[in-house]
Amino acid sequence: MKAVGIVGIEQFASPGKGRGLRVSRAYGVGELLFSCPAYSYVLSVNERGLICEQCFTRKKGLAKCGKCKKAFYCNVNCQKKNWPMHKLECHAMCTFGENWCPSETVRLVARIIARLRDQKERSPSEKLLLLKDMEAHTEELDNEKREMTEAHIAGLHHFYSKHLDFPDHQGLLTLFSQVHCNGFTVEDEELSNLGLAIFPDIALMNHSCCPNVIITYRGVNAEVRAVQEISPGQEIYTSYIDLLYPTEDRIERLRDAYYFNCDCKECTTKSMDMVKMKVRKLSDEISQKDTRDMMGRLYIALDRKSTGISALQKALAIMEVVHGKDHTYVMELKQEILGE
Ligand SMILES: C[S@@+](CC[C@H](N)C(=O)[O-])C[C@H]1O[C@@H](n2cnc3c(N)ncnc32)[C@H](O)[C@@H]1O
Ligand SMILES: [Zn+2]
Ligand SMILES: [Zn+2]
Ligand SMILES: [Zn+2]
Repeated sequence: MKAVGIVGIEQFASPGKGRGLRVSRAYGVGELLFSCPAYSYVLSVNERGLICEQCFTRKKGLAKCGKCKKAFYCNVNCQKKNWPMHKLECHAMCTFGENWCPSETVRLVARIIARLRDQKERSPSEKLLLLKDMEAHTEELDNEKREMTEAHIAGLHHFYSKHLDFPDHQGLLTLFSQVHCNGFTVEDEELSNLGLAIFPDIALMNHSCCPNVIITYRGVNAEVRAVQEISPGQEIYTSYIDLLYPTEDRIERLRDAYYFNCDCKECTTKSMDMVKMKVRKLSDEISQKDTRDMMGRLYIALDRKSTGISALQKALAIMEVVHGKDHTYVMELKQEILGE
């Protein structure tokens, strides 16, 4: 199965970082570089009844599965499309009742196995990279992670063995390791966690704490948009983690979950650490969605107005991309900048 490619984007060997993606033309702030449908995904149990299991649309009056009464859909069309995945769980949820409790990772892996089994050709989520070729880092699992993975494997056998034939043990270890270092949390525009998904092409992007793109979600499609000007030949970097953590924390998280030492400009200079520490403290008391523009407010509070306004303007550029120009957050932030 030969890679079909994405116009304007190419895979390359990024020095010290394995494979990576770079652009072959210039992209401006806000521009869409590419989008990728989820290869497999699962709606979080907390969002059940509020969001369609198939297309991740949030709306009132969703119709429920007549059998288990635990899966909700926009209409019959979404329900039918979702059946190949839901059938892995529908009957089991009835049989196990209250005791049905596989983790989200286990649920996602079950869906991946079912999809791999039925897959005959390269999927639209794998224009550049096949799921089976994603980085795994299986050799680097420490005892704690190995035990956790074994527990996941036991969970998979316990809850899914009626409807699935599993790969051998080594194959399962690889699959769980791949999901750990390539999985994405799907968020809505309020940054609430909707579920887990895997996007092979997007998993080719390496990390930087000063990223030039962000990933946003439209239903179960991920979109990659520029948050900085990107020149032809430049590598595309996203951020794997919450950037409001100070350098020591970021480095530790990246090492622990993704097995690399970040050498980006921010990790080398630690220039924003003081501000980030204060934002963290404050942001514990406020909601997640406000943290994006806290940086700017903080600068202003610290009496560094020009830096503050430029930070707010940067936050505005990102928020316009994420929420659209007419969204209330964007309007509020614009007013705030004008008021300063
Ligand atoms: C989602 S994958 C990204 C694509 C990966 N380079 C590959 O070849 O499949 C995540 C892995 O890429 C590598 N990686 C990502 N960002 C990196 C960075 N800034 N420095 C070094 N390695 C990085 C790490 O091995 C990490 O576990
Ligand atoms: Zn739907
Ligand atoms: Zn059902
Ligand atoms: Zn970094």
